[in-house]
Amino acid sequence: MDHTDDVARQSDALVLFGITGDLARKKIFPALYAMAKRGVLKVPVVGVATSKLSVTELRKRARDAIKESGKIDDKPALDHLLSLLVYVSGDYNDPGTFEALKKALGKARRPAHYLAIPPTLFETVIKGLDDAGLTEQARVIVEKPFGRDLASARELNRILRSVFAEDAVFRIDHYLGKEAIMNILYFRFANSFLEPIWNRDHVASVQITLAEDFGVEGRGKFYESAGTLRDVVQNHLFQILALLAMEPPGYQDYGAVHAEKHKVFRAMRPLVPDDLVRGQYAGYRKEPGVAKNSDVETFCALRLYIDSWRWQGVPWYLRAGKCLATTAAEVLVELKPPPQRLFDDSAPVDGRANYLRFRLSPNSAVALAARVKRAGKEFTGDQHELFLQDEQLEEESPYERLLGNAMAGEGALFAREDCVDAAWAVVDPVLTKHHQAIAYQPGSWGPKAADALIAAGGGWHNPIPDGSV
Ligand code: BG6
Repeated sequence: MDHTDDVARQSDALVLFGITGDLARKKIFPALYAMAKRGVLKVPVVGVATSKLSVTELRKRARDAIKESGKIDDKPALDHLLSLLVYVSGDYNDPGTFEALKKALGKARRPAHYLAIPPTLFETVIKGLDDAGLTEQARVIVEKPFGRDLASARELNRILRSVFAEDAVFRIDHYLGKEAIMNILYFRFANSFLEPIWNRDHVASVQITLAEDFGVEGRGKFYESAGTLRDVVQNHLFQILALLAMEPPGYQDYGAVHAEKHKVFRAMRPLVPDDLVRGQYAGYRKEPGVAKNSDVETFCALRLYIDSWRWQGVPWYLRAGKCLATTAAEVLVELKPPPQRLFDDSAPVDGRANYLRFRLSPNSAVALAARVKRAGKEFTGDQHELFLQDEQLEEESPYERLLGNAMAGEGALFAREDCVDAAWAVVDPVLTKHHQAIAYQPGSWGPKAADALIAAGGGWHNPIPDGSV
């Protein structure tokens, strides 16, 4: 592809619907600032929202948001970003708003429309854009969760696809833009030693934990409409699972990765209530925006199966929650013990056989645990980790990377429609039919009942803050 094509693929404006909202403040402004610092933000950024603000007030908001997320260490980059900001205020139901947007866009012909607004407004906004002739060469960026169940996700996709082609739709699941998660794909298929053992013959179970030691932090209203299953399991954890479980992509193109992930989601057995333990931290019901009798889960542990040739019978344990003992994300792939018990301790005495561990956050590491003989005449030993820590700093934050990719038309790190659909189909049966959420103490590892999901082996692996075991 020559340079002219590259330029033609670049969006020539970024339109931010909901620029006065939470997402813009916490994630989008800091990402734009980082892009400005790297000298890659060169197009107008047109904010759209209902509040009546002057552009000076909007610039102040942007500056405050960037300050909140870290320090301002590059004044010229900040000034550059602020100079690119334009603001259009108006009601999304009013065609005048879209006419004003069109005017603000001037000569831009290939805008990227970022819908940082509630999904209930998508249809109105997309219709407004289409009627004003602002969709033809445009892209659209949306955020997870894509819908709140299978039916609403399909409806959302119908709305998006009524105007935009699939390759013009960019569904952000920011976990796909994280280095440590991109490394799962690389580590699995850039090395040949894993493949022979990466299956039901050698893997006993796989665990994925996403723990956070803080609560809903002012997002009570959103959380009431979501819960852990919708907020992080159906998307972030399932995406990690798919990268771990997929077959090798058939060729060097991200379409092949999407296709293999889709097969994993399709092969996942739909969940039933007994596969799931839901929990709620004590104090959640006192959070602003939360119902006094809320049954929404802030913790979820589940066991699932992938009915494929590779994974038949291997349990996958997923767990995520707020107000847990620490903030960390890890994967533990537990291997089967040796078939013959040659040494008294060669079956895992402490319950944990050899394993491969991916530390995904806050730092990135890969560890392989194996038994090694202890000095002395006895043939006994201990399990030790070969520990590989990635010391490099993330080059770009996930939002910076994903925003840049969407504006360049690169869809590799985004969720594809068929995958989102198939992932919803797995959780759909338990979104409304489930056991009650069990209370747990903040700072714990969730309700005790979650332990019973893991029948054998060493139980849940609880990540610890420094990333070791
Ligand atoms: C978001 C969820 O998608 O991911 C939050 O809505 C969660 O509830 C967050 O805290 C976790 O992301 P990260 O990058 O901080 O691990």
